Amino acid sequence: MWKMAKIQRTLVVLKPDSVGRSIVGEIISRFERTGLHIAAMKMLQPSKDFFYYHYETIGTMISRRGEKAFNRQLNTMMKMPVIAIIFEWVEAVEYVRKLVGSTEPKAAAPGTIRWDYAHMSFDYADEVDIGVPNLVHASGSVEEAEKEIAHRFKKEEIFDYKPLHHAFTR
Ligand code: TYD
Repeated sequence: MWKMAKIQRTLVVLKPDSVGRSIVGEIISRFERTGLHIAAMKMLQPSKDFFYYHYETIGTMISRRGEKAFNRQLNTMMKMPVIAIIFEWVEAVEYVRKLVGSTEPKAAAPGTIRWDYAHMSFDYADEVDIGVPNLVHASGSVEEAEKEIAHRFKKEEIFDYKPLHHAFTR
């Protein structure tokens, strides 16, 4: 294990709107071009119970926003398969959230993934009763990343290697 302090792993999920629009390559390259590298990746069609664990058991969504919000989100997340990726690099959790942008695409900063690939407001999504399609999920904290990674990946599915470009980074 070559890892040092400050090197973190974070979970990114390319949601059904990324997969369905066939833009996963573009989105993955947004992360890769900054120096983040893939430690694990898989496509999956999670069950309702799987999303319950992700959004409620780990993310406390029902407690925070109610059952209706969870059901909307579940509906959006179950439309198509998703792609789960572990990205690794310096302070990856905070950095990836910054690249992804804020939850509501309308409010996300220009240059972030959620701004550049979507235009949608919470008001509109509520009116039509859908979970906001915002392309990507990214872990919100180091603790959440650890739980989300353990939920999706077995130890043997996660790869520990030193990318070639790290010749320039230490
Ligand atoms: P949340 O965990 O609060 O945000 P994030 O995905 O940025 O960590 O919410 C989970 C998902 O729920 C979010 O990606 C999109 C959806 N959502 C809505 O549809 N409407 C809302 O008002 C909020 C806050 C979230």
